[in-house]
Amino acid sequence: MSEPIIAVVGASGVVGRQLVQGLLLKDHPADCVRAFASERGAGEELDFGDDSVVIDKYSDESLRGAAVAILAVPPEVAKPVAERAQALGVWVIDLSGAWRVDEKVPLVVPGVNDGVLDRPFAGRIVSLAQASTQAFTRALEPLRGAFGLLFADATVLCGAAIHGSAGVAQLSKQTGELMNAKDPDIEVFPHRLAFNVIPAVGALENGLSQLERAMLIETARVWGGEKMPAVTATSVLVPTYHGLTLILSAHLSRRVDAEGVRATLKADSGLKVLDEPADNIYPMPMLTTDDSTVHVGRIRVLGERVQLVACIDNAFRTADSALDIAFELADRD
Ligand SMILES: NC(=O)c1ccc[n+]([C@@H]2O[C@H](COP(=O)([O-])OP(=O)(O)OC[C@H]3O[C@@H](n4cnc5c(N)ncnc54)[C@H](OP(=O)(O)O)[C@@H]3O)[C@@H](O)[C@H]2O)c1
Repeated sequence: MSEPIIAVVGASGVVGRQLVQGLLLKDHPADCVRAFASERGAGEELDFGDDSVVIDKYSDESLRGAAVAILAVPPEVAKPVAERAQALGVWVIDLSGAWRVDEKVPLVVPGVNDGVLDRPFAGRIVSLAQASTQAFTRALEPLRGAFGLLFADATVLCGAAIHGSAGVAQLSKQTGELMNAKDPDIEVFPHRLAFNVIPAVGALENGLSQLERAMLIETARVWGGEKMPAVTATSVLVPTYHGLTLILSAHLSRRVDAEGVRATLKADSGLKVLDEPADNIYPMPMLTTDDSTVHVGRIRVLGERVQLVACIDNAFRTADSALDIAFELADRD
């Protein structure tokens, strides 16, 4: 049987490049990969082992014949592309959050609620939760399962890549300008990010940033129901490039000790526990590069309260999870 055609829309961006590289790592043949971007990114040739994949300009006919399209584009672009793909009978995995509030579209956090794809749903669109929700729920899921969870808070430290390739370029430019005693340009972020910390990711509305609002909506969908814990989140931009760091605080339904927490987290193959503080072993975003597991550590326990740190490579994990779902969907009618 021939391999399914997997299309990446937004292939010139941070996540899109990771998706194409992920297809190579998963030994998908180059002639079954389609890559699209806007006119700006079209024409670029992406390395693909001994082959290459050329990025084409996306048009309404681009996805005809594809089994699955993964959308790594802004939400306003993703909406019409997803609808067009669905009309062509193509499965869609949306990474933009454009469908996160649509209860008809399954919202997936791999390793937390994968079963949502086994239940019947209308249409052919699937939404992957944003990376901060994935890290938050994935890190706490084993504790929620073993001890019950009443309350969880996350402070999410985001590198510049949370704003895509424009964010990465802006941080480099500002850093260079400051090192050369020039006034930095401020375009992508609301303030200078180089040598600074900005306590909001995306526009603030009614006291919540875009990222915080998305986390609360997604967490309610993934953990919702009678035992939904109270959840709060604060998002912060820090002057690193890639990776997310979450400072987590959880209130469990019953008292636990640190050993019980550590053993529960260690038993979960989706997590990597780095927790030997005396030897300076703890999670850091640089350790997560090209690793789709969630790293956890700095575990502290007092009665029912647990504090820990979690890190992920947001772009890699998002791409890796999306590809796993893509191959699963490609096997369906
Ligand atoms: N960064 C992360 O870690 C992360 C993680 C999870 C999900 N996401 C989500 O994934 C999406 C992409 O994020 P990113 O960080 O990769 O952003 P990015 O680096 O800015 O890339 C955006 C991509 O979208 C393409 N694009 C923009 N307008 C288009 C159009 N009209 N038609 C076709 N392609 C178009 C761009 O192509 P051009 O080069 O032609 O402009 C580029 O390839 C966003 O919705 C983001 O919220 C990001």
